[in-house]
Amino acid sequence: MATAAPAVDCRQRAVLSTTLSRTSAAFLFLSVVVVGAVASARWITSTTAVLQGRLTRLPATAATPAGTAAASALHHGTQHTQQPRPSTPSQPPPLPPPSRPPPLTYSISCPALNLSHDAQAPQASPTIARALLSSSSSCPSYPIPTPSPSTAASNNNSCPSYFRFIHEDLRPWRAAGGITRAMLDRAGLTATFRLVVLGGRAYVQRLRPAFQTRDLFTVWGVLQLLRRYPGRVPDLELMFDCVDWPVVRTHLYRGEFAKIMPPLFRYCGDDSTLDIVFPDWSFWGWPEINIKPWDALLEDLKDGNNRVRWLDREPYAYWKGNPSVSVTRQELVKCNVSSTQDWNARIYNQDWFKEGKAGFKDSDLSNQCAHSSIKYAVDWGNSHKKLAQRIGKQASSFIQEELSMDHVNDYMLHLLTEYAKLLKFKPTKPAEAVEICSESLACQAEGLEKKFLLESMVKSASDTGPCDLPPPFGAHELKMLKQRKENSIKQIEMWEQGASKS
Ligand SMILES: *[C@@H]1O[C@H](CO)[C@@H](O)[C@H](O)[C@H]1NC(C)=O
Ligand SMILES: *[C@@H]1O[C@H](CO)[C@@H](O)[C@H](O)[C@H]1NC(C)=O
Ligand SMILES: *[C@@H]1O[C@H](CO)[C@@H](O)[C@H](O)[C@H]1NC(C)=O
Repeated sequence: MATAAPAVDCRQRAVLSTTLSRTSAAFLFLSVVVVGAVASARWITSTTAVLQGRLTRLPATAATPAGTAAASALHHGTQHTQQPRPSTPSQPPPLPPPSRPPPLTYSISCPALNLSHDAQAPQASPTIARALLSSSSSCPSYPIPTPSPSTAASNNNSCPSYFRFIHEDLRPWRAAGGITRAMLDRAGLTATFRLVVLGGRAYVQRLRPAFQTRDLFTVWGVLQLLRRYPGRVPDLELMFDCVDWPVVRTHLYRGEFAKIMPPLFRYCGDDSTLDIVFPDWSFWGWPEINIKPWDALLEDLKDGNNRVRWLDREPYAYWKGNPSVSVTRQELVKCNVSSTQDWNARIYNQDWFKEGKAGFKDSDLSNQCAHSSIKYAVDWGNSHKKLAQRIGKQASSFIQEELSMDHVNDYMLHLLTEYAKLLKFKPTKPAEAVEICSESLACQAEGLEKKFLLESMVKSASDTGPCDLPPPFGAHELKMLKQRKENSIKQIEMWEQGASKS
């Protein structure tokens, strides 16, 4: 059974049986897949050659009428392309034209840049730092877009149900009557960057260095959202923390402290924290470990799934990640195969930091694995092959269908829209924030970073609206959901106990 082992710590709620827990477990679930893909994906070896030292222009979509219309405007980044309208309709057509105006199309053309490598931040890609230094000149000027009428209309298509956790994540601030500047400032205590959106343009104030290129790819994701839904992302100011674990402890912000409850965006959350969950950077690429942008990775996953028949797969629970970020992960490592035990778990280290951090030693502890659930789950999977396959299939189709890049964009749009509605102050650009745009990032990047940025670039605006945001859970619904989750965990624990006795 080539299934993913239960995800742990920050991403704990990604466990298969609890797809619907407090926050958008969907995004967290992804981490399991990505981690799995590290091993199975072919490693790109020759990618950098394509782009090195060259400023790449994407081909204009000149084969279509919209492309032809847009082609002349491509050099300046974004432009509205409008269908030519008859100015003197002497003979009104018998029917209104059936076609919609073509969506905006985009391309990037980089000016010759003299790349300065001085702006390097420790342990991080210099791209975003360079972009912040050079950006004011490199962002094209274009009129503030207004949403086209077709994207304002509902397309009568409900978003996947995990979108309902958008309401859950924001509920504390709704209950507090909104988000004040004092709350935002407090979120700045740990934030990696401040993001300001004003009139469809993005401004970034870097507060501290991020690990690897997380800030770059996260900001890039927001910029792509601005291209996909021009004029629809509301004015806002937010604080983003690129670190892996949630920090806004719920119990610290009760009573009078609710008035400084910080709204802090990050890639994960859990039941005892208030961090607001946002899609993680790897949807747009993770160059350090060669994780491609999501659309390409989805294709690879599909191919990989087709390549080896389920029943021919190796019967192991597989996990790869960085164990030093949490205690639960360190415990997981103890379940690895060793000279004294083989529970069919294969745990691999993707360690960014020096090993041994936080007193972690994996030697001599291999027989203390506390996750008997791992042994149980793998044994169960190997003795219920058909059912295990069905679970795997459902997880795959969830990934392929409900976690498409379209849904990721729609999730961000709905989350930011609902968030912005709660702001009780007028967003402004602080003096330290610098405008940042697709051009300023893509043109400063090099190698695999640049390749992934260009690959994940939104090339045309959406010609329909986002999916419809489902309503919040009712109090009863939420209670039932929690109940169901607790019951299935209890059930599994009972099965495990039964199995260990026999
Ligand atoms: C690029 O920068 C270097 C060092 O600052 C300078 O010597 C060189 O003339 C610059 N090149 C161009 C094309 O501006
Ligand atoms: C939208 O979907 C609902 C339920 O599927 C359907 O009853 C309704 O007629 C649809 N409305 C439009 C405008 O298509
Ligand atoms: C787990 O065991 C495998 C096989 O012996 C080994 O290659 C791997 O490095 C081990 N993982 C860790 C985290 O020690």
